[in-house]
Amino acid sequence: MCGIVGYVGPRGSQEVLLGGLGRLEYRGYDSAGVAIISANLQTRKRSGKLQTLRDELVANPLDDGHTGIGHTRWATHGAPTDVNAHPHLADGGKLALIHNGIIENFAELKAELVAEGTEFTSETDSEVAAHMVAREYHRTSNLTEAMRAVVARLDGAFTLLVVHEDSPGVVVGARRNSPLVIGLGKGENFLGSDVAAFVEYTSDALAIGQDQIVTITKDDVTVIDFDGNSVTPEPFTVTWDVSAADKGGWSSFMAKEISEEPAAVADTIRGRIKNGEVQIEGFEPSALIDVDRIIIIACGTAAYAGLVGKYALEQWARIPVDVELSHEFRYREPVISDRTLIVSVSQSGETMDTLMAVKYAREVGARTLSICNTQGATIPRESDAVIYTHAGPEVAVASTKAFVAQVTALYLLGIAIAQANGKGDSKVLAAVVRDLEATPAMLETVLLHGERIKTLAKWMADTQAILLLGRHVGYPIALEGALKLKELAYIHAEGFAAGELKHGPIALIEPGQVVFVIVPSPRDPHSLHAKVVSNIQEIRARGARVIAIAEQGDAAVLPYADEVIPIPLASSFIEPILAVVPLHIFAMELAAAKGLDVDQPRNLAKSVTVE
Ligand code: M6R
Repeated sequence: MCGIVGYVGPRGSQEVLLGGLGRLEYRGYDSAGVAIISANLQTRKRSGKLQTLRDELVANPLDDGHTGIGHTRWATHGAPTDVNAHPHLADGGKLALIHNGIIENFAELKAELVAEGTEFTSETDSEVAAHMVAREYHRTSNLTEAMRAVVARLDGAFTLLVVHEDSPGVVVGARRNSPLVIGLGKGENFLGSDVAAFVEYTSDALAIGQDQIVTITKDDVTVIDFDGNSVTPEPFTVTWDVSAADKGGWSSFMAKEISEEPAAVADTIRGRIKNGEVQIEGFEPSALIDVDRIIIIACGTAAYAGLVGKYALEQWARIPVDVELSHEFRYREPVISDRTLIVSVSQSGETMDTLMAVKYAREVGARTLSICNTQGATIPRESDAVIYTHAGPEVAVASTKAFVAQVTALYLLGIAIAQANGKGDSKVLAAVVRDLEATPAMLETVLLHGERIKTLAKWMADTQAILLLGRHVGYPIALEGALKLKELAYIHAEGFAAGELKHGPIALIEPGQVVFVIVPSPRDPHSLHAKVVSNIQEIRARGARVIAIAEQGDAAVLPYADEVIPIPLASSFIEPILAVVPLHIFAMELAAAKGLDVDQPRNLAKSVTVE
């Protein structure tokens, strides 16, 4: 969950590291630090957000140099304090190390080092690795070999970067179950947790595989595996530009990313629909026609996208689909076979729970497909196939544009499988394809209600609890809306299937209780509209304040709703993509009205790379 940057080249390292850390701060923001080699190795590190480190570097500058590493932390072992911030020093301050992940056997390794007389200054697991690399460096006088000796003894997940004053111009990195990519420059090279770390300087990148060690100098990149064998890393071109990873004048990354929801859908479809047929680069749906079961695995918002996808895949491709939280899937010995397709959904492509579930699924013989937003990420590389969502970099911790892109990608998958297995009604599929192509323009009109939703959020700044109801594909939208309210506005929010109301949740309704209701279209083929309107009447009769997200002109809702946020007329599978946007805006504006940090909510990190 931490962000890592490494640099060797002619530029001043400080600027490169701070710029990279700024774009990686979404990964963790409770402390930050840098280590730079000039005449000697110098470090600065501070608890708090990156700005605190920037201020420290102004108040207490270090000598800039051409080799450096930087870290932004999301605390696991040890409180977010100055001493626990990375880099960690060893070898009398000549070696600096940064770490993302958890070293599970650190206690035993620490005991060994303490017995040898090593003194620890922090409470972190990471400091163990620093002292171990220093010990091996003394033995080998080679930083790469020292790293190789150390990783052989570590259990858990880690990305490590290390520099040593006696090896200026060299940064060595290693990774296991934690991300690290290489940026290739001319006369300079970079390492980063993801490409955002160096996108300002280069779009040429290399993906480092599992259990590999990379050594960069300004002119050279070498990669070996943990056994010391030479490895040729996979090249890729970064398609994001630096402006995509910056705020671009918006008040927050989240505001910018919500505004990009139409583009996220458009870019995820782009080039993938030809004459009404879905064709996804590198993905051959005919290879899946013998699949008899699909399990979608994901966490958080990605799991709710998966739940929307389930309704679509089952209806169009006529294959049973389950949706499971990755962390539950892996530990319950699920029944799967070589005809089971595991579809993982992950914005970051690094979520540890999902990564481990994918690995487990492969081990037990399932086929694996990744829906992912991040090039060079681990989950797609551990999967048999990948469908990239093209939402662009998502920096705000709360996932928004990635959600609509994930739903879009799942729809493309559903249509592609249905077209390949011939089970779907071709007219229905053709209509869905047309509707998907029209969705970005419809999303633009939903965004026009932003100011009104902001006003609503301001009125409701003191609200303590919010309920959300939805049915069919509206149900996952209720869950997604509730998650956003919890993580951003820190209020209790609960999403329910509207049909479940009378089975218990209606007891929560008392006068003044705010309830958002996602209302299906009056034209919906299953007549769910009437049932949801009846739910609205039931809660209204008990004094609830109803905010309906309903189709433009839905007269049946008006008499019973305190507020109606209209969405354009659309087919039932497009509605969830439209209805989620007002909820994203509302959660953001409610948090802003309460004076909370919209992009970096408390206790959370964007990418959860520990279990
Ligand atoms: O990177 P991923 O899509 O795998 O992340 C999954 C969840 O951690 C993520 O969606 C999380 O729930 C968001 N903070 C929700 O806004």
